[in-house]
Amino acid sequence: MFKALSAVQDVLRCPHCFESIEIEDGIAKCDAGHSFDIARQGYVNFLTNQTFIKNADTAAMVDARLKMHTRPFFQDLALQLADICDGLCRGVSQPIIVEPGGGTGFYAHVVSQTVSNALAVSFDISVQAAKVCARQSDRVAAVVADVWQQWPIADDSADVVLSVFSPRNFVETERVLKADAVLIVVTPEENHLVELRNRFNALSIQRDKSESISSALGNFTKIEQMSHQSIELLDGLAMYDTLLSGPNGHHIEAKDVQVFTHAEPIEVTHSVNISVWKVV
Ligand SMILES: C[S@@+](CC[C@H](N)C(=O)[O-])C[C@H]1O[C@@H](n2cnc3c(N)ncnc32)[C@H](O)[C@@H]1O
Ligand SMILES: [Zn+2]
Repeated sequence: MFKALSAVQDVLRCPHCFESIEIEDGIAKCDAGHSFDIARQGYVNFLTNQTFIKNADTAAMVDARLKMHTRPFFQDLALQLADICDGLCRGVSQPIIVEPGGGTGFYAHVVSQTVSNALAVSFDISVQAAKVCARQSDRVAAVVADVWQQWPIADDSADVVLSVFSPRNFVETERVLKADAVLIVVTPEENHLVELRNRFNALSIQRDKSESISSALGNFTKIEQMSHQSIELLDGLAMYDTLLSGPNGHHIEAKDVQVFTHAEPIEVTHSVNISVWKVV
């Protein structure tokens, strides 16, 4: 049951003192004596009382994202990311993938199924997401942690940091990456879900997203960039799940599902940018 956490224990660090962690008898314990119960679902909560919890996905948002990920666009995106990681990790005996803001761990899971011998740590501030992540796979360790604090991950330990639609902390990314390892960032392009956003007057994509990534990533160089796009016909419930999965999710209530249930299906553009970065 704690297989995924035990498998990556060498990579984990105590959120209080940054000492090594050992997983034993349902407890994650550091060399200095701090201990954290592993929940029966199989995740460990490393939040400290300094954490201000904001923007954590709710159970309804997590559920919506699980359904959304079954659609062809997201399945194909996960496979494309897995292929990229596979190419980048050739020759590494046990690649370590770190997925900050990983939610349900969907992408880390697909990557760890494709990349030979890979193990992943997927962390998120949402306990609801960690519960789901923990049951995905025994190759993906589910951790509750804050992207904006020091990550509970050892220096120079990751072969890939995978940031998919998640908050990005580039200082911590650089710290945990091994020399020559890569950061993969997936961000929505301007026309991503545009028809859906127009129809429901939903929050739009931040316009300068790709420029702000480039300027924030001072020590990184972009080594590859590509787009992943498709148009999908979404019925009302698929539209609801999609909006609930994104930044609009915090503004939608369960009763709003009524509005979507009878909505006519519409064709919706899906368009994301995938970029691969290395520390120079
Ligand atoms: C749009 S979702 C993307 C989740 C996942 N990467 C995916 O694509 O399925 C953003 C995620 O970031 C998480 N999140 C928000 N603030 C965070 C923080 N400070 N630390 C860690 N995770 C955070 C949310 O709980 C949510 O799961
Ligand atoms: Zn400690």
